[in-house]
Amino acid sequence: MLVAVVGDVHGRFFRVEEWVEELEKNLGEPVAAVWAVGDVETFATPDDHRRKSTKRNMPAEFAAYARGERRMRREFVFVGGNNEDFEDLERFPHGGELVPGVRYLGRAGVRAMHGLRVAYLSGIYAPTRFDRPRMPATSAESSKQAGYFRQADVDLVRAVPSADVLMLHEWPRGIAGRDSAVARAGARGIRQRHWPQVGNPHAAAVVSGLRPRWVLCGHLHVPHAATLRWDDGRVTRVACLDQAARPDGGFLWMRWEGNIVRAVGWGTSGEVNWRPGQPWDERQTASRIRIEPRERRGDEMGAAPSEDEASEHSQPPSVPPSAPDVP
Ligand SMILES: [Fe+2]
Repeated sequence: MLVAVVGDVHGRFFRVEEWVEELEKNLGEPVAAVWAVGDVETFATPDDHRRKSTKRNMPAEFAAYARGERRMRREFVFVGGNNEDFEDLERFPHGGELVPGVRYLGRAGVRAMHGLRVAYLSGIYAPTRFDRPRMPATSAESSKQAGYFRQADVDLVRAVPSADVLMLHEWPRGIAGRDSAVARAGARGIRQRHWPQVGNPHAAAVVSGLRPRWVLCGHLHVPHAATLRWDDGRVTRVACLDQAARPDGGFLWMRWEGNIVRAVGWGTSGEVNWRPGQPWDERQTASRIRIEPRERRGDEMGAAPSEDEASEHSQPPSVPPSAPDVP
């Protein structure tokens, strides 16, 4: 079974469908499902005022699916990011089909899909909101805060006994050291010495408790690959995807046989970049890192991070409960 994974879509659905078609042509095989790691933006109208002003210059193509003018050719499943139509997603706290073929997983939990157990945690960590109740997403501020996960969400996914895959939006902390390619490149403008603290400790705790075979995440708009080896002999491979601006780092395919991945490739060419027994690390991703010029990065990511989010990238408040061993 072929699964395609896509990084932050930010409303650009048409190109994702094109990439899927290209991949199917190149591999001569249909894609069973597309998994998206959040910030997909399923706004039903292109000029929705709740889209962040910095993202308005990206197409809001979901409107074509919402109006029924287009239908997703392949099943599209997503975990929530911090930029979504939260007012609409709140109809489905435990997941649901928004339009035919487009399914939101929900806030946190586990779901059986194609014989695989897929655990998921939507949103990002904001220390100032983590212990506070979530308000209905009715204003710009409450919509922004709806993109932060809460203690109850983390508890839900931490109670999951086992999973083959964990889908996150924000990176788990501890997967990129100071000497990693992303750190050396200064991706996202984050200083090299801060990279060990990038990502959040709660996702790291979920990963170390669950120890799934694969973890998929997005949010930072930079590709990264890492392998975590646990003391019980289990191995977790982490794939962080670039946004869906470019397929080489923002699009990944996995060939599953039962609950084992037999081959993985970045982009749409069908070229295999990993098979069992081969290293899964930044040797596959370093060349795919693209640093946006400063003025453009503001367009794509939003300008300077807010107070809530500031800590998420560079100044974390605490160390992960169980720091994974990053080789
Ligand atoms: Fe994000």
